[in-house]
Amino acid sequence: MLPGTACAASRGVLDSLSVASRELGAVVLAAGLGTRMKSATAKVLHTLGGQPLLRYPLAALGALDPDRVIVVVGHQADAVRAVAEHAGLRGLATALQAEQHGTGHAVRCAAPALAGFAGDVLILYGDAPLVRAGTLRRLLDHHRATDADLTLLTMRFRDPRGYGRIVRDGGGRVSRIVEERDASEAERAITEVNPGFYCVRAPVLLPLLAQLRADNAQGEYYLTDIVELAARRGHAIESVETDRPDELAGINSRAELARAEEQLRAERVERFMAAGVTFEDPATAYLGPQVEIGPDTVIGPNVTLRGATRIGRGCRLDGTAWLTDAVLADGVHLRFACVVEEAEIGPEAIVGPFARLRPGTRLGARVHVGNFVETKKALLGEGTKANHLTYLGDCEIGPETNVGAGTITCNYDGFAKHRTKIGARVQIGSDTQLVAPVEVGDDAYIAAGTTVTRPVPAGALAVSRADLRFVEGWTARKRARAGGKGQAATAESPAQPAPAPAGTRTSAPSRRRGR
Ligand code: UD1
Ligand code: MG
Repeated sequence: MLPGTACAASRGVLDSLSVASRELGAVVLAAGLGTRMKSATAKVLHTLGGQPLLRYPLAALGALDPDRVIVVVGHQADAVRAVAEHAGLRGLATALQAEQHGTGHAVRCAAPALAGFAGDVLILYGDAPLVRAGTLRRLLDHHRATDADLTLLTMRFRDPRGYGRIVRDGGGRVSRIVEERDASEAERAITEVNPGFYCVRAPVLLPLLAQLRADNAQGEYYLTDIVELAARRGHAIESVETDRPDELAGINSRAELARAEEQLRAERVERFMAAGVTFEDPATAYLGPQVEIGPDTVIGPNVTLRGATRIGRGCRLDGTAWLTDAVLADGVHLRFACVVEEAEIGPEAIVGPFARLRPGTRLGARVHVGNFVETKKALLGEGTKANHLTYLGDCEIGPETNVGAGTITCNYDGFAKHRTKIGARVQIGSDTQLVAPVEVGDDAYIAAGTTVTRPVPAGALAVSRADLRFVEGWTARKRARAGGKGQAATAESPAQPAPAPAGTRTSAPSRRRGR
Protein backbone atom coordinates (compact mmCIF):
# COMPACT_ATOMS: atom_id res chain seq x y z
CA MET A 1 0.00 0.00 0.00
CA LEU A 2 1.27 3.51 -0.78
CA PRO A 3 2.04 5.71 2.26
CA GLY A 4 -0.60 8.26 1.22
CA THR A 5 -3.35 5.71 0.88
CA ALA A 6 -2.41 4.22 4.25
CA CYS A 7 -3.04 7.59 5.86
CA ALA A 8 -6.33 8.16 4.08
CA ALA A 9 -7.51 4.69 5.00
CA SER A 10 -6.66 5.33 8.64
CA ARG A 11 -8.66 8.54 8.74
CA GLY A 12 -11.62 6.69 7.34
CA VAL A 13 -11.33 4.15 10.11
CA LEU A 14 -10.97 6.96 12.66
CA ASP A 15 -14.26 8.56 11.65
CA SER A 16 -16.09 5.39 12.46
CA LEU A 17 -14.50 5.05 15.88
CA SER A 18 -15.82 6.68 19.00
CA VAL A 19 -13.42 9.20 20.48
CA ALA A 20 -12.85 7.22 23.65
CA SER A 21 -11.78 4.10 21.82
CA ARG A 22 -9.08 5.88 19.83
CA GLU A 23 -5.66 4.37 20.22
CA LEU A 24 -3.16 6.07 22.47
CA GLY A 25 0.38 6.82 21.40
CA ALA A 26 3.10 8.77 23.16
CA VAL A 27 6.30 10.57 22.23
CA VAL A 28 8.86 11.25 24.94
CA LEU A 29 11.69 13.66 24.17
CA ALA A 30 15.00 12.57 25.57
CA ALA A 31 17.64 13.48 22.99
CA GLY A 32 19.03 16.70 24.43
CA LEU A 33 22.30 17.06 26.30
CA GLY A 34 20.90 19.57 28.77
CA THR A 35 23.40 22.41 28.38
CA ARG A 36 22.33 24.08 31.62
CA MET A 37 23.29 20.98 33.61
CA LYS A 38 26.94 21.71 32.64
CA SER A 39 27.54 18.00 32.38
CA ALA A 40 29.03 15.44 30.03
CA THR A 41 26.08 13.20 30.91
CA ALA A 42 22.81 13.52 28.99
CA LYS A 43 20.22 15.22 31.18
CA VAL A 44 17.70 12.36 31.25
CA LEU A 45 20.43 10.06 32.60
CA HIS A 46 21.00 12.23 35.67
CA THR A 47 19.47 10.51 38.63
CA LEU A 48 16.63 11.42 40.93
CA GLY A 49 15.99 9.18 43.93
CA GLY A 50 18.70 6.92 42.54
CA GLN A 51 16.94 6.42 39.16
CA PRO A 52 17.55 8.09 35.79
CA LEU A 53 15.17 11.00 35.18
CA LEU A 54 13.69 9.31 32.11
CA ARG A 55 12.34 6.42 34.18
CA TYR A 56 9.79 8.68 35.81
CA PRO A 57 7.76 9.99 32.87
CA LEU A 58 7.85 6.51 31.35
CA ALA A 59 6.47 5.03 34.57
CA ALA A 60 3.67 7.61 34.62
CA LEU A 61 2.89 6.83 30.98
CA GLY A 62 2.92 3.11 31.68
CA ALA A 63 -0.11 3.53 33.95
CA LEU A 64 -2.10 4.71 30.91
CA ASP A 65 -1.05 1.61 29.00
CA PRO A 66 -0.44 3.32 25.64
CA ASP A 67 -0.48 1.25 22.49
CA ARG A 68 2.82 2.64 21.32
CA VAL A 69 5.52 4.82 22.83
CA ILE A 70 8.35 6.45 20.91
CA VAL A 71 11.30 7.72 22.89
CA VAL A 72 13.45 10.18 20.95
CA VAL A 73 17.12 9.61 21.75
CA GLY A 74 20.24 11.53 20.69
CA HIS A 75 22.94 12.28 23.25
CA GLN A 76 24.31 9.02 24.67
CA ALA A 77 21.65 7.29 22.61
CA ASP A 78 22.59 3.75 23.64
CA ALA A 79 22.46 4.48 27.36
CA VAL A 80 19.19 6.41 27.05
CA ARG A 81 17.70 3.64 24.89
CA ALA A 82 18.67 1.10 27.55
CA VAL A 83 16.86 3.12 30.23
CA ALA A 84 13.79 3.41 27.97
CA GLU A 85 13.73 -0.31 27.27
CA HIS A 86 14.09 -1.11 30.94
CA ALA A 87 10.69 0.53 31.50
CA GLY A 88 9.14 -2.49 29.78
CA LEU A 89 6.35 -0.51 28.07
CA ARG A 90 4.20 -2.20 25.48
CA GLY A 91 4.94 -1.06 21.91
CA LEU A 92 8.05 0.91 22.87
CA ALA A 93 10.35 2.05 20.09
CA THR A 94 13.10 4.61 19.93
CA ALA A 95 13.74 7.21 17.22
CA LEU A 96 17.15 8.75 16.72
CA GLN A 97 17.58 12.51 16.59
CA ALA A 98 21.23 12.56 15.60
CA GLU A 99 21.51 16.35 15.83
CA GLN A 100 19.37 18.31 18.21
CA HIS A 101 17.56 21.10 16.42
CA GLY A 102 14.85 21.65 19.00
CA THR A 103 11.81 19.99 20.51
CA GLY A 104 9.77 20.30 17.29
CA HIS A 105 12.56 18.69 15.33
CA ALA A 106 12.69 15.90 17.90
CA VAL A 107 9.00 15.09 17.43
CA ARG A 108 9.54 15.18 13.69
CA CYS A 109 12.15 12.46 14.15
CA ALA A 110 9.46 10.34 15.81
CA ALA A 111 6.93 11.01 13.03
CA PRO A 112 7.89 8.04 10.79
CA ALA A 113 7.08 5.75 13.71
CA LEU A 114 3.61 7.34 13.83
CA ALA A 115 2.84 6.93 10.12
CA GLY A 116 -0.62 5.48 9.73
CA PHE A 117 -1.41 6.01 13.40
CA ALA A 118 -4.84 7.56 13.82
CA GLY A 119 -5.12 7.86 17.57
CA ASP A 120 -4.19 10.50 20.15
CA VAL A 121 -0.55 11.24 20.83
CA LEU A 122 0.65 12.40 24.23
CA ILE A 123 3.88 14.35 23.92
CA LEU A 124 6.02 14.85 26.97
CA TYR A 125 9.55 15.88 27.82
CA GLY A 126 11.94 13.52 29.53
CA ASP A 127 13.07 16.26 31.92
CA ALA A 128 9.80 16.57 33.86
CA PRO A 129 10.03 13.57 36.18
CA LEU A 130 7.50 14.33 38.88
CA VAL A 131 4.42 14.12 36.67
CA ARG A 132 1.78 11.74 37.94
CA ALA A 133 -0.16 9.27 35.87
CA GLY A 134 -3.38 10.90 37.12
CA THR A 135 -2.37 14.23 35.61
CA LEU A 136 -1.65 12.65 32.22
CA ARG A 137 -5.01 10.88 32.52
CA ARG A 138 -6.73 14.23 33.19
CA LEU A 139 -5.10 15.73 30.08
CA LEU A 140 -6.20 12.79 27.95
CA ASP A 141 -9.72 12.65 29.37
CA HIS A 142 -10.28 16.36 28.79
CA HIS A 143 -8.90 16.07 25.26
CA ARG A 144 -11.30 13.26 24.48
CA ALA A 145 -14.28 14.66 26.36
CA THR A 146 -14.07 17.91 24.38
CA ASP A 147 -13.13 16.12 21.17
CA ALA A 148 -10.25 18.57 20.81
CA ASP A 149 -7.53 18.44 18.16
CA LEU A 150 -4.83 19.66 20.52
CA THR A 151 -4.93 19.92 24.30
CA LEU A 152 -2.20 21.17 26.56
CA LEU A 153 -1.55 21.38 30.25
CA THR A 154 -0.82 24.80 31.68
CA MET A 155 0.22 25.99 35.10
CA ARG A 156 0.76 29.25 36.91
CA PHE A 157 4.05 30.20 38.51
CA ARG A 158 4.55 33.43 40.38
CA ASP A 159 8.06 33.37 38.97
CA PRO A 160 7.58 32.06 35.42
CA ARG A 161 11.22 32.43 34.41
CA GLY A 162 12.56 29.77 32.07
CA TYR A 163 9.16 28.62 30.79
CA GLY A 164 7.29 29.29 27.58
CA ARG A 165 4.37 31.65 28.26
CA ILE A 166 0.78 30.82 27.31
CA VAL A 167 -0.71 33.56 25.16
CA ARG A 168 -4.52 33.71 25.04
CA ASP A 169 -6.72 35.66 22.65
CA GLY A 170 -9.46 38.13 23.59
CA GLY A 171 -11.87 35.21 24.03
CA GLY A 172 -9.51 33.52 26.50
CA ARG A 173 -8.54 30.75 24.12
CA VAL A 174 -4.91 29.64 23.83
CA SER A 175 -3.52 31.18 20.67
CA ARG A 176 0.19 30.44 20.97
CA ILE A 177 3.13 29.73 23.24
CA VAL A 178 6.00 32.16 23.26
CA GLU A 179 9.43 31.09 24.50
CA GLU A 180 11.01 33.39 27.03
CA ARG A 181 13.84 34.40 24.74
CA ASP A 182 11.39 35.44 22.03
CA ALA A 183 8.86 37.09 24.34
CA SER A 184 8.10 40.79 24.56
CA GLU A 185 8.20 42.50 27.94
CA ALA A 186 4.42 42.21 28.24
CA GLU A 187 4.51 38.51 27.32
CA ARG A 188 7.23 37.84 29.89
CA ALA A 189 4.90 39.16 32.57
CA ILE A 190 2.42 36.34 31.82
CA THR A 191 2.45 33.88 34.71
CA GLU A 192 0.57 31.08 32.95
CA VAL A 193 3.27 28.84 31.52
CA ASN A 194 3.80 25.75 29.43
CA PRO A 195 4.94 22.68 31.39
CA GLY A 196 5.42 20.79 28.11
CA PHE A 197 2.61 18.18 28.09
CA TYR A 198 0.45 17.96 25.02
CA CYS A 199 -2.17 15.66 23.60
CA VAL A 200 -2.69 15.90 19.85
CA ARG A 201 -4.66 13.84 17.36
CA ALA A 202 -2.03 12.19 15.17
CA PRO A 203 -3.62 13.18 11.84
CA VAL A 204 -3.50 16.82 13.01
CA LEU A 205 0.00 16.63 14.45
CA LEU A 206 1.92 15.33 11.47
CA PRO A 207 1.08 18.17 9.02
CA LEU A 208 1.75 20.77 11.74
CA LEU A 209 5.24 19.38 12.34
CA ALA A 210 6.01 19.76 8.65
CA GLN A 211 5.25 23.49 8.90
CA LEU A 212 7.59 24.34 11.77
CA ARG A 213 10.24 26.97 11.07
CA ALA A 214 13.41 27.71 13.02
CA ASP A 215 13.00 31.51 12.81
CA ASN A 216 13.43 32.31 16.48
CA ALA A 217 16.05 33.44 18.98
CA GLN A 218 17.55 29.96 19.32
CA GLY A 219 17.37 28.98 15.66
CA GLU A 220 15.50 25.83 16.68
CA TYR A 221 12.34 24.06 15.61
CA TYR A 222 10.09 24.68 18.60
CA LEU A 223 7.38 22.14 19.29
CA THR A 224 5.49 24.93 21.02
CA ASP A 225 4.87 26.55 17.62
CA ILE A 226 2.38 23.82 16.73
CA VAL A 227 -0.09 25.64 18.99
CA GLU A 228 -0.10 28.81 16.90
CA LEU A 229 -0.14 26.79 13.68
CA ALA A 230 -3.12 24.77 14.93
CA ALA A 231 -4.95 27.91 16.04
CA ARG A 232 -4.43 29.51 12.63
CA ARG A 233 -5.81 26.44 10.90
CA GLY A 234 -8.92 26.60 13.03
CA HIS A 235 -8.19 23.38 14.96
CA ALA A 236 -9.91 23.00 18.30
CA ILE A 237 -7.43 23.78 21.06
CA GLU A 238 -8.15 23.00 24.70
CA SER A 239 -6.16 23.54 27.86
CA VAL A 240 -6.20 22.06 31.33
CA GLU A 241 -4.69 24.11 34.12
CA THR A 242 -3.07 22.13 36.89
CA ASP A 243 -3.22 23.30 40.47
CA ARG A 244 -0.05 21.35 41.34
CA PRO A 245 2.66 23.15 39.38
CA ASP A 246 5.50 21.58 41.39
CA GLU A 247 4.61 18.27 39.86
CA LEU A 248 5.21 19.54 36.34
CA ALA A 249 8.40 21.52 36.88
CA GLY A 250 11.07 20.79 34.30
CA ILE A 251 14.63 20.07 35.32
CA ASN A 252 17.19 22.14 33.48
CA SER A 253 19.86 22.78 36.10
CA ARG A 254 21.48 21.10 39.08
CA ALA A 255 19.57 23.42 41.41
CA GLU A 256 16.27 22.31 39.87
CA LEU A 257 17.38 18.69 40.15
CA ALA A 258 18.09 19.20 43.86
CA ARG A 259 14.65 20.78 44.36
CA ALA A 260 12.97 17.84 42.64
CA GLU A 261 14.99 15.43 44.77
CA GLU A 262 13.79 17.17 47.91
CA GLN A 263 10.20 17.18 46.73
CA LEU A 264 10.27 13.51 45.80
CA ARG A 265 11.95 12.62 49.07
CA ALA A 266 9.40 14.51 51.13
CA GLU A 267 6.46 12.95 49.23
CA ARG A 268 7.73 9.42 49.76
CA VAL A 269 8.38 9.95 53.44
CA GLU A 270 4.88 11.42 53.86
CA ARG A 271 3.38 8.37 52.20
CA PHE A 272 5.16 5.98 54.58
CA MET A 273 4.25 8.06 57.61
CA ALA A 274 0.62 7.84 56.55
CA ALA A 275 1.08 4.05 56.38
CA GLY A 276 2.38 3.79 59.95
CA VAL A 277 6.15 4.29 59.73
CA THR A 278 7.89 6.67 62.15
CA PHE A 279 10.71 8.89 60.90
CA GLU A 280 12.65 10.53 63.70
CA ASP A 281 13.94 13.11 61.24
CA PRO A 282 11.84 13.06 58.07
CA ALA A 283 14.12 15.63 56.43
CA THR A 284 17.05 13.19 56.31
CA ALA A 285 15.34 10.03 55.09
CA TYR A 286 16.20 9.13 51.49
CA LEU A 287 13.96 6.49 49.94
CA GLY A 288 14.04 5.05 46.44
CA PRO A 289 10.80 4.43 44.54
CA GLN A 290 10.72 0.64 45.01
CA VAL A 291 11.36 0.69 48.73
CA GLU A 292 8.83 -0.97 51.04
CA ILE A 293 8.59 -0.42 54.81
CA GLY A 294 6.21 -2.17 57.19
CA PRO A 295 4.16 -0.40 59.85
CA ASP A 296 5.54 0.32 63.31
CA THR A 297 9.05 0.51 61.96
CA VAL A 298 11.09 3.43 63.28
CA ILE A 299 13.65 5.05 61.00
CA GLY A 300 16.28 7.22 62.68
CA PRO A 301 18.06 10.20 61.11
CA ASN A 302 20.16 10.07 57.97
CA VAL A 303 19.00 6.77 56.49
CA THR A 304 19.23 6.01 52.76
CA LEU A 305 17.14 3.14 51.39
CA ARG A 306 17.69 2.27 47.76
CA GLY A 307 16.81 -0.28 45.12
CA ALA A 308 14.37 -3.01 46.07
CA THR A 309 14.98 -2.62 49.79
CA ARG A 310 12.18 -4.15 51.87
CA ILE A 311 11.88 -3.55 55.58
CA GLY A 312 9.44 -5.52 57.68
CA ARG A 313 7.17 -4.50 60.55
CA GLY A 314 8.40 -3.28 63.88
CA CYS A 315 12.01 -2.80 62.81
CA ARG A 316 14.25 -0.13 64.21
CA LEU A 317 17.01 1.60 62.24
CA ASP A 318 18.92 3.74 64.71
CA GLY A 319 20.33 6.05 62.05
CA THR A 320 23.09 6.76 59.53
CA ALA A 321 22.52 3.68 57.41
CA TRP A 322 22.91 2.90 53.72
CA LEU A 323 20.78 0.03 52.43
CA THR A 324 20.63 -1.11 48.82
CA ASP A 325 18.48 -4.09 47.78
CA ALA A 326 18.37 -5.15 51.41
CA VAL A 327 15.64 -7.30 52.94
CA LEU A 328 14.93 -6.96 56.65
CA ALA A 329 12.39 -9.30 58.22
CA ASP A 330 10.12 -8.15 61.06
CA GLY A 331 11.60 -6.87 64.29
CA VAL A 332 15.15 -6.31 63.05
CA HIS A 333 17.24 -3.81 64.96
CA LEU A 334 19.83 -2.10 62.80
CA ARG A 335 22.00 -0.14 65.16
CA PHE A 336 23.82 3.06 64.26
CA ALA A 337 25.97 3.31 61.11
CA CYS A 338 25.52 0.15 59.05
CA VAL A 339 25.87 -0.55 55.33
CA VAL A 340 23.73 -3.36 53.92
CA GLU A 341 23.88 -4.30 50.23
CA GLU A 342 21.99 -7.18 48.59
CA ALA A 343 21.72 -8.87 51.95
CA GLU A 344 18.92 -10.43 53.97
CA ILE A 345 18.47 -10.10 57.72
CA GLY A 346 16.19 -12.53 59.53
CA PRO A 347 13.53 -11.71 62.13
CA GLU A 348 14.59 -10.19 65.44
CA ALA A 349 18.23 -10.02 64.36
CA ILE A 350 20.46 -7.26 65.73
CA VAL A 351 23.12 -5.73 63.51
CA GLY A 352 25.73 -3.08 64.22
CA PRO A 353 26.72 -0.52 65.21
CA PHE A 354 29.25 -0.12 62.39
CA ALA A 355 28.59 -3.37 60.53
CA ARG A 356 28.90 -3.95 56.82
CA LEU A 357 26.79 -6.67 55.21
CA ARG A 358 27.88 -7.18 51.62
CA PRO A 359 26.08 -8.98 48.78
CA GLY A 360 25.06 -12.56 49.39
CA THR A 361 24.82 -12.22 53.16
CA ARG A 362 21.87 -14.04 54.76
CA LEU A 363 21.40 -13.79 58.49
CA GLY A 364 18.92 -16.15 60.14
CA ALA A 365 16.49 -15.26 62.89
CA ARG A 366 17.93 -13.67 66.06
CA VAL A 367 21.46 -13.46 64.65
CA HIS A 368 23.67 -10.82 66.24
CA VAL A 369 26.30 -9.12 64.11
CA GLY A 370 28.19 -6.50 66.03
CA ASN A 371 30.62 -3.66 65.52
CA PHE A 372 33.26 -3.75 62.82
CA VAL A 373 32.02 -7.00 61.38
CA GLU A 374 32.07 -7.45 57.60
CA THR A 375 30.20 -10.26 55.87
CA LYS A 376 30.07 -11.31 52.21
CA LYS A 377 28.31 -14.37 50.76
CA ALA A 378 27.90 -15.46 54.34
CA LEU A 379 25.01 -17.53 55.67
CA LEU A 380 24.61 -17.35 59.43
CA GLY A 381 22.18 -19.77 61.07
CA GLU A 382 19.56 -18.88 63.65
CA GLY A 383 20.85 -17.40 66.87
CA THR A 384 24.47 -17.28 65.73
CA LYS A 385 26.56 -14.38 67.01
CA ALA A 386 29.56 -12.57 65.56
CA ASN A 387 29.77 -9.53 67.73
CA HIS A 388 33.16 -7.93 67.23
CA LEU A 389 35.83 -7.15 64.61
CA THR A 390 35.34 -10.06 62.27
CA TYR A 391 35.43 -10.88 58.55
CA LEU A 392 33.12 -13.63 57.38
CA GLY A 393 33.34 -14.21 53.62
CA ASP A 394 32.22 -17.15 51.46
CA CYS A 395 31.04 -19.09 54.44
CA GLU A 396 28.15 -20.97 55.93
CA ILE A 397 27.69 -21.08 59.69
CA GLY A 398 25.14 -23.25 61.45
CA PRO A 399 22.78 -22.15 64.23
CA GLU A 400 23.71 -21.05 67.76
CA THR A 401 27.40 -20.70 66.97
CA ASN A 402 29.53 -18.02 68.60
CA VAL A 403 32.19 -16.32 66.52
CA GLY A 404 34.78 -14.67 68.76
CA ALA A 405 36.31 -11.24 68.29
CA GLY A 406 38.84 -10.90 65.52
CA THR A 407 37.87 -14.08 63.67
CA ILE A 408 38.82 -14.07 60.00
CA THR A 409 37.79 -16.41 57.21
CA CYS A 410 40.88 -16.41 54.99
CA ASN A 411 38.88 -16.98 51.83
CA TYR A 412 41.29 -15.76 49.15
CA ASP A 413 44.63 -17.32 48.29
CA GLY A 414 45.53 -14.76 45.66
CA PHE A 415 43.98 -16.82 42.89
CA ALA A 416 40.54 -18.02 43.91
CA LYS A 417 37.95 -17.67 46.66
CA HIS A 418 37.38 -20.67 48.91
CA ARG A 419 34.55 -21.57 51.28
CA THR A 420 34.45 -22.09 55.01
CA LYS A 421 31.75 -24.27 56.54
CA ILE A 422 31.11 -24.12 60.26
CA GLY A 423 28.58 -26.29 62.02
CA ALA A 424 26.02 -25.71 64.77
CA ARG A 425 26.82 -24.70 68.36
CA VAL A 426 30.49 -24.12 67.57
CA GLN A 427 32.56 -21.85 69.86
CA ILE A 428 35.18 -20.00 67.87
CA GLY A 429 37.74 -18.34 70.10
CA SER A 430 38.99 -14.83 69.53
CA ASP A 431 41.58 -14.17 66.84
CA THR A 432 40.91 -17.40 64.97
CA GLN A 433 41.91 -17.64 61.32
CA LEU A 434 40.00 -20.14 59.23
CA VAL A 435 42.11 -20.88 56.16
CA ALA A 436 39.62 -21.88 53.48
CA PRO A 437 38.63 -24.28 52.13
CA VAL A 438 38.00 -25.69 55.55
CA GLU A 439 35.21 -27.16 57.67
CA VAL A 440 34.46 -27.13 61.36
CA GLY A 441 32.10 -29.83 62.67
CA ASP A 442 29.14 -29.29 65.03
CA ASP A 443 29.88 -28.56 68.69
CA ALA A 444 33.59 -28.04 68.09
CA TYR A 445 35.64 -25.61 70.16
CA ILE A 446 38.39 -23.54 68.60
CA ALA A 447 40.88 -22.10 71.03
CA ALA A 448 41.65 -18.39 70.85
CA GLY A 449 44.43 -17.55 68.44
CA THR A 450 44.13 -20.77 66.45
CA THR A 451 44.88 -20.98 62.76
CA VAL A 452 42.58 -23.65 61.35
CA THR A 453 44.11 -25.28 58.29
CA ARG A 454 42.47 -28.71 58.44
CA PRO A 455 38.88 -29.88 58.97
CA VAL A 456 37.94 -29.84 62.67
CA PRO A 457 36.01 -32.94 63.72
CA ALA A 458 32.63 -32.48 65.41
CA GLY A 459 32.90 -32.05 69.15
CA ALA A 460 36.72 -31.62 69.12
CA LEU A 461 38.85 -28.82 70.51
CA ALA A 462 41.21 -27.29 67.95
CA VAL A 463 44.18 -25.34 69.20
CA SER A 464 47.33 -24.14 67.48
CA ARG A 465 49.40 -21.92 69.67
CA ALA A 466 53.07 -21.07 70.31
CA ASP A 467 54.22 -21.94 73.82
CA LEU A 468 53.90 -19.20 76.39
CA ARG A 469 57.11 -18.51 78.34
CA PHE A 470 58.10 -16.02 81.00
CA VAL A 471 61.40 -14.13 81.21
CA GLU A 472 61.53 -13.33 84.86
CA GLY A 473 62.88 -9.94 85.97
CA TRP A 474 63.00 -8.76 82.37
CA THR A 475 61.36 -5.39 83.03
CA ALA A 476 63.69 -4.37 85.84
CA ARG A 477 66.77 -5.18 83.78
CA LYS A 478 65.43 -3.29 80.79
CA ARG A 479 64.77 -0.21 82.91
CA ALA A 480 68.20 -0.39 84.47
CA ARG A 481 69.79 -0.46 81.03
CA ALA A 482 67.73 2.55 80.03
CA GLY A 483 69.09 4.53 83.01
CA GLY A 484 65.83 4.76 84.86
CA LYS A 485 63.91 6.00 81.83
CA GLY A 486 60.72 4.32 80.98
CA GLN A 487 59.37 4.36 84.52
CA ALA A 488 56.56 6.59 83.46
CA ALA A 489 55.59 4.08 80.86
CA THR A 490 55.02 1.24 83.26
CA ALA A 491 51.39 1.00 82.31
CA GLU A 492 52.31 0.20 78.72
CA SER A 493 53.59 -3.11 77.53
CA PRO A 494 57.00 -3.12 75.80
CA ALA A 495 56.57 -2.92 72.05
CA GLN A 496 58.93 -5.81 71.46
CA PRO A 497 60.36 -7.85 74.27
CA ALA A 498 64.11 -8.16 73.87
CA PRO A 499 65.49 -11.68 73.70
CA ALA A 500 66.45 -12.98 77.11
CA PRO A 501 70.09 -12.12 77.93
CA ALA A 502 72.44 -15.08 78.08
CA GLY A 503 72.29 -16.86 81.36
CA THR A 504 68.87 -15.58 82.41
CA ARG A 505 66.41 -18.14 83.52
CA THR A 506 63.14 -18.47 81.65
CA SER A 507 60.25 -20.47 82.90
CA ALA A 508 57.25 -22.03 81.24
CA PRO A 509 53.85 -21.71 82.83
CA SER A 510 53.31 -24.49 85.27
CA ARG A 511 50.20 -25.75 83.51
CA ARG A 512 49.63 -25.68 79.81
CA ARG A 513 46.06 -25.39 78.80
CA GLY A 514 44.52 -26.67 75.66
CA ARG A 515 46.57 -29.78 75.14
C1 UD1 B 1 10.65 23.52 26.91
C2 UD1 B 1 9.54 24.30 26.16
C3 UD1 B 1 9.00 25.39 27.05
C4 UD1 B 1 8.48 24.79 28.34
C5 UD1 B 1 9.53 23.92 29.02
C6 UD1 B 1 8.90 23.12 30.13
C7 UD1 B 1 10.06 24.26 23.77
C8 UD1 B 1 10.59 25.01 22.63
N1 UD1 B 1 10.08 24.87 24.96
O1 UD1 B 1 11.71 24.40 27.16
O2 UD1 B 1 7.94 26.07 26.40
O3 UD1 B 1 8.03 25.82 29.19
O4 UD1 B 1 10.10 22.98 28.11
O5 UD1 B 1 9.83 22.45 30.89
O6 UD1 B 1 9.62 23.14 23.61
N2 UD1 B 1 14.94 17.69 23.48
C9 UD1 B 1 15.19 16.82 22.46
N3 UD1 B 1 15.73 17.29 21.31
C10 UD1 B 1 16.01 18.60 21.12
C11 UD1 B 1 15.73 19.49 22.17
C12 UD1 B 1 15.19 19.01 23.34
O7 UD1 B 1 14.93 15.62 22.59
O8 UD1 B 1 16.49 18.93 20.04
C13 UD1 B 1 14.38 17.16 24.73
C14 UD1 B 1 15.30 17.38 25.90
O9 UD1 B 1 16.13 16.22 26.08
C15 UD1 B 1 14.34 17.58 27.06
C16 UD1 B 1 13.08 18.13 26.41
O10 UD1 B 1 13.20 17.88 25.03
O11 UD1 B 1 14.02 16.37 27.70
C17 UD1 B 1 12.89 19.64 26.66
O12 UD1 B 1 14.02 20.34 26.19
P1 UD1 B 1 14.60 21.57 26.98
O13 UD1 B 1 15.81 22.06 26.26
O14 UD1 B 1 14.74 21.26 28.39
O15 UD1 B 1 13.43 22.66 26.78
P2 UD1 B 1 13.12 23.89 27.72
O16 UD1 B 1 14.08 24.97 27.41
O17 UD1 B 1 13.00 23.45 29.11
MG1 MG C 1 13.46 21.65 30.02
